[in-house]
Amino acid sequence: MPDPIRYAQQYRETHLAELMAFLRIPSISAQPKHQEDVQKAAQWLADAMQKVGLENVKVIKTEGHPLLYADWLHAGKNAPTVLVYGHYDVQPAEPFDLWATPPFEPTIRDDYLYARGSSDDKGQAYIHVKAVESYLRSDGRLPVNVKFIVEGEEESGGESLSAFIPKNKKLLKADVALISDTAIVSPDQPAIVYGLRGMAYMLLDVTGPGRDLHSGSFGGGVNNPLNVLGHIIAKLKDEQGHILIPGFYDDVRPLTAEERDLISQFHPDEEAWLKETGAPQAWGEPAYTLVERLGARPTLDVNGIIGGYTGPGAKTVLPATVHAKISMRLVPDQEPMAIARSFTRYVQQLAPPSVKIKVQTLNTAVASVTDWKIPAMQAAASAYEQVFGQKPVYTREGGSIPVVSEFKQHLGLETVLMGFGLAGDQIHAPNERFYIPNFFRGVETAVHFLAEYGK
Ligand code: BES
Ligand code: ZN
Repeated sequence: MPDPIRYAQQYRETHLAELMAFLRIPSISAQPKHQEDVQKAAQWLADAMQKVGLENVKVIKTEGHPLLYADWLHAGKNAPTVLVYGHYDVQPAEPFDLWATPPFEPTIRDDYLYARGSSDDKGQAYIHVKAVESYLRSDGRLPVNVKFIVEGEEESGGESLSAFIPKNKKLLKADVALISDTAIVSPDQPAIVYGLRGMAYMLLDVTGPGRDLHSGSFGGGVNNPLNVLGHIIAKLKDEQGHILIPGFYDDVRPLTAEERDLISQFHPDEEAWLKETGAPQAWGEPAYTLVERLGARPTLDVNGIIGGYTGPGAKTVLPATVHAKISMRLVPDQEPMAIARSFTRYVQQLAPPSVKIKVQTLNTAVASVTDWKIPAMQAAASAYEQVFGQKPVYTREGGSIPVVSEFKQHLGLETVLMGFGLAGDQIHAPNERFYIPNFFRGVETAVHFLAEYGK
């Protein structure tokens, strides 16, 4: 057994206890009241990086939440450089009453560690810090050069890292990027995610009367923005899930035969998947398989509606202004800003003159696909196989990690998405959890990855 692996196994419980301390910091990037906590989490991780022997550790101030940089660059001139990315911010934890144990009091139940951020992404990001430690504390060196860039705005669509990358090309120069922020198929079946969807997130305001009105005295005489919003939403997408915005599909890159073949080698248990969702039936575009619908087809979803009376009992009112938050998950080669413009134009056409409409783009991300034949992908496949005992399947994921396309665009980097989460981790939901054996396996897989990539 290689020394770093022995070390990782020996210190499992210590590493887990450290992760629990990290998870106690409520670093919710979207909520201003947690700004200091976000700062604290950045400092906590910086200290942890310093302790394991990473160098040039910096907490970098930005207009938003701080970035974190660290490196170890003594593998030699000919050794490749890996740029590890992660995010230390987490999603809001509401609704609190649905958590079995509080979101920021990490709790172990049945091999799972329950806490907001346990899987997405503190637990997965910390794996790489512990892999570096395992090497430096045993061999005293790493087989490759390593740089870390960790952000605190991933979950809230912040711009700080996007602005930082093009201005720091030299600092971030590397041969490949490595991210653990995705899920594998099952505890024993690893998966390499070679494609992620992009995003255009829209906020739509519909305003009718200048103030709330009595729905009896005024109903029938002025249009109700909430009704109008319903009509607009109904026209965005048909019952089969086909999006009705003109031009929406124009730039969608069709799957190649080779890719369809690659994806089809992965047969998810659709029944188990459906059970996991709790929905009575699966749904989606009939011409596509489940994996294709989730990873390779664009979608549009209403994420939230604000408006009207939502308190107990009946209140008769025509609301003055209502809002909808609508996300579109995009695929290569859809351009998020162009899609946002098409959305805006279409919605403005749909709106009757009896209301006023305002559309804002809250968030964008470009979709990505990585060449699955590059050496770093082979290194990840081999690392997974050595630890999980099975070759990974290759798949596309429906979620977004905006930095992947930015690494490609500005640094020319392909990204290996070597995740350790599970579909049942309940990320972004109450009772988020991380399967503890995957945390330990993750550290070992990351160790093997560095070894394989250094060969
Ligand atoms: N880790 C997720 C993305 C993810 C989830 C990838 C599941 C693959 C499988 C990431 O932290 C995330 O949630 N991203 C946001 C990005 C958005 C705010 C631009 C997302 O996908 O909603
Ligand atoms: Zn994440």
